[in-house]
Amino acid sequence: MPREIRNLALIGFMGSGKTAVGRMAAAQLAFEFVDTDALIEAAAGMSIPEIFAREGEPGFREWERKIVRTLAERSRTVIATGGGLPTYGDHLEQLKQHSLVVCLWASPEVLYERVRHHDHRPLLRTPDPLARIRELLARREPYYRQADVLIQTEHRPIREVAAQVVHAFRIHQQSVV
Ligand code: S3P
Repeated sequence: MPREIRNLALIGFMGSGKTAVGRMAAAQLAFEFVDTDALIEAAAGMSIPEIFAREGEPGFREWERKIVRTLAERSRTVIATGGGLPTYGDHLEQLKQHSLVVCLWASPEVLYERVRHHDHRPLLRTPDPLARIRELLARREPYYRQADVLIQTEHRPIREVAAQVVHAFRIHQQSVV
């Protein structure tokens, strides 16, 4: 199926800045902003930690599988995805059907610094979160690298990263019209 790019999807590890960058990029593009975790919480009527506690990680991945399908109906939307979402099933392919897929990148050490003061991420509630980040990122890297655009976010302000995301999207739009 040919791609019909109407949206911009941000993928990347927890702490890569998808939500903050996505909100800013959406404002600049005059697009709607959605976050798959927030869509799941609304559909499930539970927070992400509650879903993990009651249904386990497999239950949460099932919610992601349902939500990712609904994204195809959207247009002019910036979609921030949960860190694991593009690494399961054919989710990345589904996103690529309707979105330019941009990956926000940072090293495990920088990601750890960004997430260490937050406790709403069940996968990082372990005695050694940095080791967990290293292990998960190594497993996920092959998926993240399949993004259309990969952006380094280390030691860069959010507004600069957002500007680069918007630029990448506009360049892409120009190249197809
Ligand atoms: C997850 C990332 C989280 C959330 C869930 C699982 C992951 O989203 O979907 O806790 O598997 O990396 P953020 O990347 O927005 O933190």
